Amino acid sequence: MRVLGIETSCDETAAAVVDSERGILSNVVLSQLDEHRPYGGVVPEIAARAHIDHLDGLIAQAMDEADVSWADLDGVAVTSGPGLIGGVMVGLMTAKAVASAHNLPFVAVNHLEAHGLAVRMTDKVAFPYLLLLVSGGHCQLLIVEGVGKFTRLGTTIDDAVGEAFDKTAKLLGLGYPGGPAVEAAAKTGDPKRFDLPRPLIGRDDCHFSFSGLKSAIRREVEKLGVPTDQDKADLCAGFQAAAADVLIDRSRRAMEIFERRTGGKGAFVISGGVAANKYLRARLTVLCEREGFPMICPPPSLCTDNGAMIAWAGLERLALGLVDTLEAQARARWPLDPDAPAAMGAGVKA
Ligand code: KG4
Ligand code: ZN
Repeated sequence: MRVLGIETSCDETAAAVVDSERGILSNVVLSQLDEHRPYGGVVPEIAARAHIDHLDGLIAQAMDEADVSWADLDGVAVTSGPGLIGGVMVGLMTAKAVASAHNLPFVAVNHLEAHGLAVRMTDKVAFPYLLLLVSGGHCQLLIVEGVGKFTRLGTTIDDAVGEAFDKTAKLLGLGYPGGPAVEAAAKTGDPKRFDLPRPLIGRDDCHFSFSGLKSAIRREVEKLGVPTDQDKADLCAGFQAAAADVLIDRSRRAMEIFERRTGGKGAFVISGGVAANKYLRARLTVLCEREGFPMICPPPSLCTDNGAMIAWAGLERLALGLVDTLEAQARARWPLDPDAPAAMGAGVKA
């Protein structure tokens, strides 16, 4: 089977063609970084307009690079949520038009499910597995039991970890997006110089919190006045070490719960934009070796937003006969586990 995947839920406009046998035939991603950089973050209106400007051309390019015609496709898959609603609507309307014009099956994909299933495209990981989903909008631990079957063990009660990276970078004037900038600056920093908090460590549940860590960084920056490059490096290293400690402690707790619920150990999969961070990967690798959960991580280009993961999720759904109608709606919020109890805390986002 061969599917066209379309992604427009945040600030990447992306299209890809994936084949169930031959893998990724094309994967075109256009980042809108330059358009949003002056504002220090994604501006939803600008994102939606940029998707309109670029999506048609990107789809044509993805089809061209894959060297396929419409008749060679078995379906069109598109992110229909969660995400910035204007952008989601641009992708959804375009995908519906393409599917309708070429009489192709249409699949409405949950962006988070696509992040969670991407690893099955590269590594053929079997269900169930434990998923740490770490992106700009989400920070969750889930048991992936199957396509469309997720049990959420934990989520953030305030900021997502990627958001904390971005805000730390902003406080230090390191530019946008923050994750790669913080990772680079941390390389020459002393992680022990500043005493930073590790929120929620040791708790019985698997929830996360990062706003206290961000506030601690802000206080240190205020104390420093004008931070030097070394101050910035030390703060980035300290922040990254604290974030890693939190992710490790919460993941270890989730491994215990996974083992109790499923009766065994399984793969530990990391996905989402923050999974591109090499320091975090290295720290989590140590945890996985100690706990006996093989760590599997898609390559960085498939961890950040892309069309191939949407096409793959579409393939998985089509293979199970899960097709959507053209009535499918754009959804700003779309939890993977609607039955999960609400996490206690202020300003819950997930
Ligand atoms: O999955 P993604 O591309 O988009 C969302 O669905 O949110 O994730 C983007 C997030 C941003 O917060 C970005 O700063 C973060 O992933 N990120 C990183 C790194 N690369 C991207 N965070 C830490 N270290 C990185 N190397
Ligand atoms: Zn994403």
